[in-house]
This record gives sequence, C-alpha cells and structure tokens, in this order.
Amino acid sequence: MYNQKIAIIGCGRVGVALAVFLSKAGYRVAGFASRSRLSAQNALKAILSEGDCCKSSDLAKVFDSSVDAASLCDILFITTPDNLIQSVCSDISSNSSIDMASKTIFHCSGALSSCVLESAAKKGANTGSIHPLQSFAPYSEGEPSPFIGINVSVEGNHTALAVGKELIHALGANHFTIPTKSKTLYHAAAVVASNYLVTLEAFALELLNLADISQDKGYQILEPLIQGTLSNIKTRGSVAALTGPIARGDFKIVEQHLKDIDERLPDFSKLYRIMGQYTLKLTQKRGELDESSICQLTEILK
Ligand SMILES: NC(=O)c1ccc[n+]([C@@H]2O[C@H](COP(=O)([O-])OP(=O)(O)OC[C@H]3O[C@@H](n4cnc5c(N)ncnc54)[C@H](OP(=O)(O)O)[C@@H]3O)[C@@H](O)[C@H]2O)c1
Repeated sequence: MYNQKIAIIGCGRVGVALAVFLSKAGYRVAGFASRSRLSAQNALKAILSEGDCCKSSDLAKVFDSSVDAASLCDILFITTPDNLIQSVCSDISSNSSIDMASKTIFHCSGALSSCVLESAAKKGANTGSIHPLQSFAPYSEGEPSPFIGINVSVEGNHTALAVGKELIHALGANHFTIPTKSKTLYHAAAVVASNYLVTLEAFALELLNLADISQDKGYQILEPLIQGTLSNIKTRGSVAALTGPIARGDFKIVEQHLKDIDERLPDFSKLYRIMGQYTLKLTQKRGELDESSICQLTEILK
C-alpha cells in the first residue's frame, strides 16, 4: 500500500498530523487542498520539513480545488470540520472525470459514520471513518507523533476496514472496529468519559473553593484520588470500584451534603442529585444495601 497516493482535503490539526506521520511512516502523501491555499502550503511544508524520512512525499503538490487533489489519489482523507464532510464528498463524487471506484475515502469524525460519504460509495468508492481518540493541537515542527499508542476506531466497508487498519498500525496506534450503526453511541461514550469528567471535576473544584481551597491546590489534592479511582475501575470494574456514602448507605451524610450545596452552590444541586441517583443504581447492583437505606437515599436524592 506504500505506493498508493494519499491526498488530504482540509489542512487543519488532524489533516496535517496525518500527512506528516503517514509520510514519516513511508506513505506517499501526494496532494493537499484546503479552504485557504496557505493552509495547504503549510501542510506541504510540514511534510517536507521532516526531511529524509518523508522522501516518498517529495513530489507532493498543493491544489486549489478539492476535486483536483482527489483525482490524483488512491486514498483520500476529508479532514474538514464535520459539518462540511458530506458536501466536500458530494462535490468530488459529482465530478464525472474522477474514477471513484478506484479510491478509498475516509473522514475522521467521531460522531459521523461512513454513511456521510454515501455520494462516493454510490460511485463505487470504498468508504470508511477513522477516529483517533486523541486531542490534536496545531502541528509544530519536530513534535512527537500524537498517534503513538493511542486507540483509533475504524468503521466502513470491507476494503476501507482493511486499508484503515493498515494505516492506523503504520501510525503506531491501535485499531478497534465498530459497527457503522453504532457510531453515534460510541461518540456519546467518548463525550461522557472525557468531557463530562471535566465537568464533574470542575464541580468538585468549586466545592473545594467554597471550603477555602484554591483551584490549583484543589487539583493537587484531588489528583491521587482521581487516579486511584480510575485504577480501581480498570482493575475491578465500575460496580466494585464505588466507595463513599451512597455505597455505604450513609444517607445522613448525603443529606448534609445537599443541605450545604443547596445553600451555597445551588447551581449544582440538580447535578449532585442526578449523579447520586445513578450512583445508587450502580450500588444496588452489588445487592449489599438494605431496603431501608435504599428508600432513605431515594427520598433524599429526589
Ligand atoms: N482536533 C481534534 O482533536 C480531533 C480529534 C479527533 C477527530 N477530529 C476530527 O478531525 C476532523 C478535522 O478536525 P480538525 O480539528 O483538524 O479541524 P481544523 O483544525 O478546524 O481543520 C479543518 C480544516 O478544514 C479546512 N476547511 C474548511 N472548510 C473547507 C472546505 N470547504 N474545503 C476544504 N477544506 C476546508 C480548514 O481550512 P483552512 O485552514 O484552509 O481555512 C481547516 O484547515 C473533524 O472531522 C474532527 O471531528 C478532530
């Protein structure tokens, strides 16, 4: 697959990172197009600045149109913002001079599936999505690869899956496949695990702030607790990892928490109650709490 030509449409964070590190892995990144010519030129500079290790991409070009970049490649990455993937793909697919059946097309959105590339699939292209579970910063020269050791989902038709797995491994990442129909649920899981964790920790820091502990100090204090909890989930699973007043059935403590939160941080009262209700459901899976504690906790957390 190393002799196949890769084109990148959308030269932002992910597009440039793919270009640089696929090129470093020996792939021939042959063309770039972006909304602005400058971004595409910077992407080309980025792969050339990596020197000898990107030799196979020496003949890469910048194109003014996505259609021109797509026409020369075997593997195409559409790394525009999510809301533009479908229209960029349609523009390319509707061009009768392009042999779509010879191409494999990917996007990198977590929330969207390969179905948004339907216009290309209808013309015979292999289509898939490759989603790196990573947060990408703008590329800076000489930086270590953001792909090493991360987990990347791949979804799509049979050929796209095979091509995608090979590219992911060449990047030094681990692949896992997901069914096309499950892409939205998969993305929701990533949002809950990452974004909502940030929101919960921000809530905890607000509470510490009210207890006269500053944000910086607050995080230092909480970090070993957070890391220990993550380690317990990993080794023992969510149900066994639960500790604290709800897991012990200590409803009086929960009642005191809510009294203070309702009084001093009312914006978060609802969140504490909802998280408490779900924590109680998780605790009940252990089958250790007596009925009376469950009833008291249910009432307090309403
Ligand atoms: N960033 C992350 O951490 C991350 C992680 C996983 C997956 N992703 C996914 O990766 C994809 C790209 O995200 P990103 O963070 O790299 O976005 P980004 O940094 O905003 O880059 C998007 C690029 O698309 C270009 N663009 C906009 N409209 C275009 C058009 N009509 N035709 C061609 N190019 C166009 C922009 O152009 P100009 O620069 O030329 O103006 C920009 O360079 C998205 O699907 C996103 O969901 C992102």
